Amino acid sequence: MFSYQHIYHAGSFADVHKHVALMLLLEKLNEKPKPYAYFDTHAGRGMYDLSSREANKTGEYKHGIAAIGVDVKLTSALGRYLDLLKTVRAKYGETAYPGSPAIAREILRPGDRMVLSELHPGELTHLRETFEHDRVEIHRQDAMNGMTAMIPPSVRRGLVLIDPSYEVKTEYAEMAPKLAKALRRWDSGIFALWYPILKDARHTDMLSALKALPHDKLVSEFMAPDSIEGHRMIGSGLVVFNAPWKFAENLDAAMKDLRTALYAGGGSHTVG
Ligand SMILES: C[S@@+](CC[C@H](N)C(=O)[O-])C[C@H]1O[C@@H](n2cnc3c(N)ncnc32)[C@H](O)[C@@H]1O
Repeated sequence: MFSYQHIYHAGSFADVHKHVALMLLLEKLNEKPKPYAYFDTHAGRGMYDLSSREANKTGEYKHGIAAIGVDVKLTSALGRYLDLLKTVRAKYGETAYPGSPAIAREILRPGDRMVLSELHPGELTHLRETFEHDRVEIHRQDAMNGMTAMIPPSVRRGLVLIDPSYEVKTEYAEMAPKLAKALRRWDSGIFALWYPILKDARHTDMLSALKALPHDKLVSEFMAPDSIEGHRMIGSGLVVFNAPWKFAENLDAAMKDLRTALYAGGGSHTVG
């Protein structure tokens, strides 16, 4: 535990997949004036610097966000995501990369609620610094147990992003029972769980268990082309429970643009 730090992976193709999906889900919640709550169970440090030694040790961002020309003009959600990135970089510098809580900060409205959990002491310190001027709830607590105890929120509308580091192998087996419990407590909440797709496909049992849950769900999988050597992670997956109307179509259009930008149309995206 605590060996994982997201700075080594920030801005990877998987982050772009996950963060575009997050943006789409929050945009949908913004369509109604009623406030909502956003829970980010594995918050990380909030803001990343892609010029850091750690980010450059793996260089994952070079095959992700840095490989997309930021000035490309796109009509899909990928274009709005790049606009959001520009807004963040205007405030934090050209090598900044916003993590999920920082993306949410750009989209949430003044009456909405943001609840962040993080356990890593160093990441937590950075997270508190990132949000020192914001009205955000930050908890040093276990992701799933902490979130489950806080739902449903009184506003009854909202999104839970679950983005584990999968450092502990048992996390895969625990996820479906924990999500089942959370969905029993808040059956109208939107829950988005991210998972890595590795060459050994260790996510498959977890995915089968999640698919068997009696709740409305979809699965989005963005796969890098086979030809990219040296990638331990070959794809990025998301299971979304209670996804809003048109989410699948909008995400698919954005991922088509991402495949064009990164792989000249290679790789694949499936959603359904
Ligand atoms: C993949 S990173 C999160 C990245 C972030 N969601 C983003 O998109 O910018 C996972 C984070 O979860 C934290 N973490 C791991 N296990 C946890 C647990 N049981 N409870 C809370 N946080 C945990 C790690 O310290 C790490 O910062």
